[in-house]
Amino acid sequence: MVANRCPEIEVVVVDINEDRIKAWNSDDLPIYEPGLDDVVKVCRGRNLFFSTDTHKHVQEADIVFVSVNTPTKTTGIGAGKAANLTYWEGAARLIAAVSTSSKIVVEKSTVPVKTADAIGKVLRRNCGDPNVQFEILSNPEFLAEGTAIEDLKNPDRVLIGGAETESGQKAIQVLKSVYEHWVPSERIITANLWSAELSKLTANAFLAQRISSVNAISALCEVTGADVQQVAHAIGMDSRIGRRFLNASVGFGGSCFQKDILNLCYVCETLGLQKVADYWHSVVSMNDYQKQRFVERIASSMFNTVYGKKIAVMGFAFKKDTGDTRETAAIDVCHGLIREGANIMIYDPKVPEEQVFKDLSMSKFEWDIPMSPTKADAKLRQNVSMHFDPYMAMDGAHALCIMTEWDEFKTYDYRKVYDSMVKPAYVFDGRNILDHDELRKIGFVVYAIGKPLDPFVKRE
Ligand code: UDX
Repeated sequence: MVANRCPEIEVVVVDINEDRIKAWNSDDLPIYEPGLDDVVKVCRGRNLFFSTDTHKHVQEADIVFVSVNTPTKTTGIGAGKAANLTYWEGAARLIAAVSTSSKIVVEKSTVPVKTADAIGKVLRRNCGDPNVQFEILSNPEFLAEGTAIEDLKNPDRVLIGGAETESGQKAIQVLKSVYEHWVPSERIITANLWSAELSKLTANAFLAQRISSVNAISALCEVTGADVQQVAHAIGMDSRIGRRFLNASVGFGGSCFQKDILNLCYVCETLGLQKVADYWHSVVSMNDYQKQRFVERIASSMFNTVYGKKIAVMGFAFKKDTGDTRETAAIDVCHGLIREGANIMIYDPKVPEEQVFKDLSMSKFEWDIPMSPTKADAKLRQNVSMHFDPYMAMDGAHALCIMTEWDEFKTYDYRKVYDSMVKPAYVFDGRNILDHDELRKIGFVVYAIGKPLDPFVKRE
């Protein structure tokens, strides 16, 4: 967006991964995001470049945005909770080593509170040139996948945190002037470094908390006969609560929510705030419960066994309009079904087959480690198949599970699907997107999150 809206600024995206840079320079971009192709096409070669020459471009830059991955640690102290800052530290060491002029270093990746402190030390202690000054800013990214370009064009707010010193405030103004090319200045807010860092974790924790809260109520709705969509509508009309982010679902996924909450909990624990950590951790526990409940509902409804039954898993991405599968609820649901001995047929319009098998064959938090075909993978293929035609995935199935809210799922010919399925034919709508009355008229037994249960769907 900076390249798009500020033609006088040269933007170079650098990455040590050659394949990724090659893809950015090709017609086949490495990520799917609506509208991204157009923006890249307009700017690439004009004032937007992609390169693996990190040394040269970091050295020449006035402002360096660091957007490296900060996944949850998989081993060692804080495993499963703390953020792994290895890539961040590596980036800081590189910036320090090559800098011959002063720079503003911007934290774009989500980082734990006080990271700027640590990074500042790495930068200052590793730079040979005493005349080089580094000013660190925190400028957390609030865009959501699938709507990234829209969110960037028209953000609710841009947050810039900096040191409360003269040079810190000057750096804030420099970055602010970049955003002012397209964001009204009243939407650009400034804060101290720690507030900005903490705001990002807090925003994601609050958003995820809304989903876990409505999902908790969905379980109660199912046993009482209330309808979670009616409840969400009723409470959402209260402007203090608001309508958005109240869709009950099979569980939230994505690269941010769980990671950031675990990170927040870890920060609280290390600061002796166990109660606060427990409070936020319950948001993740409720999400796990929702996924587990979904699997149990499938098994109990299908006469307490899915062993050897074909189940079509419709959608694998963590939400629609993205091919991203990080922490997608589909992974845990598929694992649950595989443990019960089901045969799974997966269809997703954007997720490639290798990604599905990689996700299903690795343990949690390992998404950065490249997987080669293994025995585990071969075993998995006995129970799991991927289909590129949705009707093929559903053909001969005992049940359909809607895992992602892809719009195309609403447009299928469900009469044709029903005719091709084993009876009783079940639909488990984990996103509440299908027309349930219509499906019931066709003959399906329907389970939908937080909705009154069909007599056929068992309660326990
Ligand atoms: C999120 C934040 O929204 C964004 O501000 C931050 O910068 C990064 O993390 P993202 O992970 O891309 O963005 O997706 P988001 O739209 O927030 O959805 C996260 C998950 O929650 C998805 O699995 C989605 O399906 C689920 N969700 C969302 C629900 O289950 N119900 C809802 O009402 C909303």
